[in-house]
Amino acid sequence: MKEVKVGLLGFGTIGAGVVRVFQQNSQVMTDRLGASIKLARIADLDITTDRGVQVEEGVLTTDANQVLTAPDIDVVIELIGGYEPARSFVLKAIENGKHVVTANKALLAKYGDEILAAAAEKGVEVMFEASVGGGIPVLSAIKENLCVNRFRSIFGILNGTCNYILTRMTDEGADFAAVLKDAQDVGYAEADPTFDIEGVDTAHKLAILIGLCYGTRVDCDDIHLEGISQISAVDIQFARQFGYKIKLLAISKEVDGEIEARVHPTMIPQNAPLADVDGVFNAVRLVGDFVGPVMLYGQGAGMDATASAVMGDVMSIARNQLTGAIGRTPAMAYCPTAIGKLPLKAMS
Ligand code: HSE
Repeated sequence: MKEVKVGLLGFGTIGAGVVRVFQQNSQVMTDRLGASIKLARIADLDITTDRGVQVEEGVLTTDANQVLTAPDIDVVIELIGGYEPARSFVLKAIENGKHVVTANKALLAKYGDEILAAAAEKGVEVMFEASVGGGIPVLSAIKENLCVNRFRSIFGILNGTCNYILTRMTDEGADFAAVLKDAQDVGYAEADPTFDIEGVDTAHKLAILIGLCYGTRVDCDDIHLEGISQISAVDIQFARQFGYKIKLLAISKEVDGEIEARVHPTMIPQNAPLADVDGVFNAVRLVGDFVGPVMLYGQGAGMDATASAVMGDVMSIARNQLTGAIGRTPAMAYCPTAIGKLPLKAMS
């Protein structure tokens, strides 16, 4: 039986989730792929902390090159997060002919063009479903099922940490700082949680969605941005009295041939579907010119849901590699010939 070998960079919460998928669902993957898929190596600077999962002897290393340059590795999963060394490692993996799967929204929002151009040049795939919406298959829906549509709008609850904090403040009157601490403890929050609560993480995800939906590369600094750190219990109570919930929304709309892009806390009528998206759950509502409105919903952060998205990408790449279909489904947004490429509207 053929075997696809995977190397993992970054053994944090999501990395442990990936190991759990291999441990629990290896047979499911083998049956569906018709080939064996093996986690051959895991590189992290810290290989002594107990991650709550069993790793085979000889798999753990502190040397990233044992993943990036090893001839036996077919697919590299990047779960380090942040810009560096993640960018250099991903480029090195591509240079060495490895396919790459990443959950790194900050990296893609800033260096997506460079990384995808390098991959196209080398003839390898880069997939990043886990970068937006955790376990929700929103990027593959846009790239595949919905790809004949011109998109009119994107509304999203895209940050599990913020939604978890706002939900608990609304339902329990909980204290902002205490709930943030809980979100960090369960592994929802970024290493720097200001990225979550100030809306930066949501802006990264919106930039990726805009790239895929409109074919437009957006600099996150051009997205109007306001986070949730100034939302108080009183704001939430007033909103509720008037029949609203407060959610951190990512919004992008096509307006007269330009696109608007903004992230800010928004009052949503309590009977609107997005108001029912609570806790760590995310949702994305897209409107396409043929399909009309589509709403996707699921766990937006956390070990298992994110690992599901990461491993879904690994399986797609493995399937393409085994069938010789590599490169048939490029990330359209970043192709120079992308359809429907629209300019970003300047926001005040
Ligand atoms: N910190 C992110 C969130 C993780 O809370 O949504 C998932 O991207």
